[in-house]
Amino acid sequence: MPVTVALLGTGIMGAGMARNVLAAGLPLRVWNRTAEKAAPLGAAGATVAATPADAVRDADVVVTMLGDAGHVVAVMEQAAGGLSPGQVWAQCTTVGVGPHAEIVALAARHGLLLVDAPVVGTRAPAEQGRLLVLAAGPPQARAAVQPVFDAVGRATNWLADDAGGAAASRLKLVVNSWVLALTAGVGEALALADGLGVDPQAFLDAVGGGPLDLPYLQVKAAAIRERDWTPSFSAANAAKDAGLIVAAAEEANVRLDVAAAAGQRYRRTVELGHGEDDMAANYLAST
Ligand SMILES: NC(=O)c1ccc[n+]([C@@H]2O[C@H](COP(=O)([O-])OP(=O)(O)OC[C@H]3O[C@@H](n4cnc5c(N)ncnc54)[C@H](OP(=O)(O)O)[C@@H]3O)[C@@H](O)[C@H]2O)c1
Repeated sequence: MPVTVALLGTGIMGAGMARNVLAAGLPLRVWNRTAEKAAPLGAAGATVAATPADAVRDADVVVTMLGDAGHVVAVMEQAAGGLSPGQVWAQCTTVGVGPHAEIVALAARHGLLLVDAPVVGTRAPAEQGRLLVLAAGPPQARAAVQPVFDAVGRATNWLADDAGGAAASRLKLVVNSWVLALTAGVGEALALADGLGVDPQAFLDAVGGGPLDLPYLQVKAAAIRERDWTPSFSAANAAKDAGLIVAAAEEANVRLDVAAAAGQRYRRTVELGHGEDDMAANYLAST
């Protein structure tokens, strides 16, 4: 029997993941705070639940893909009436290290088998089922959750939880410290080019094809030059993740300068009214 999946949160990432769960032939219930965003998944074959509790009732695997840890805890508390001990909970939201502890406690209260499972990849890989799933959790959860990870991802990196828990969330913060610095760097370089009267294409030509080039630079630079802020990864989520990275580093007595500065830049992007736009809109935070 295929595992039955409940997916809570059908935003940019959750919607793409839901479609790939369906494509893999797994029965799927979805719930989203804003019901209209979940409705198209009903037409694609999912059962659209009216409440989180209805979504999770009798599901084998519960997937959360919400904005932050506060949302995860609030929504899972709303789901409490439908949860049952032994269910597997794949927590895919980027929640950082400290807030993960609250999620561990919530899982323990309900007897859930928690898999810390943040993902690497943005809107397009989510829609294509090409995410990288970083996973840490009890071995007895794997048989149920692996078909779900196989549906949404190109690979799963199972990590040993040998340094106090949150192994996958810790790796996710390291990856995102790189992503946030890169994207802030692209935004700044193009803003500097404009300010100095340098053709942005001259900058791209200067680094193109060499060791300083990378696909991510080309994609984000193209978006900035076209002023196309269609979100793959919102500036608001980038600001949120920068805060999680800085908090985790402080807890570990690691001084980070770039992540803190990138966080300021993404927060300014949000204050300028571009929170729901792509993180590439940090280009606008130079004016
Ligand atoms: N986009 C990426 O490239 C990417 C990649 C990897 C990981 N992530 C992480 O994955 C998570 C989701 O990202 P996303 O890009 O899909 O974000 P998103 O499009 O903003 O979706 C956020 C989801 O959280 C829900 N939500 C927000 N506030 C809520 C609340 N108070 N109560 C209940 N639900 C609430 C939203 O519901 P509504 O529709 O009602 O607002 C939506 O379903 C984030 O933690 C993000 O950092 C994102």
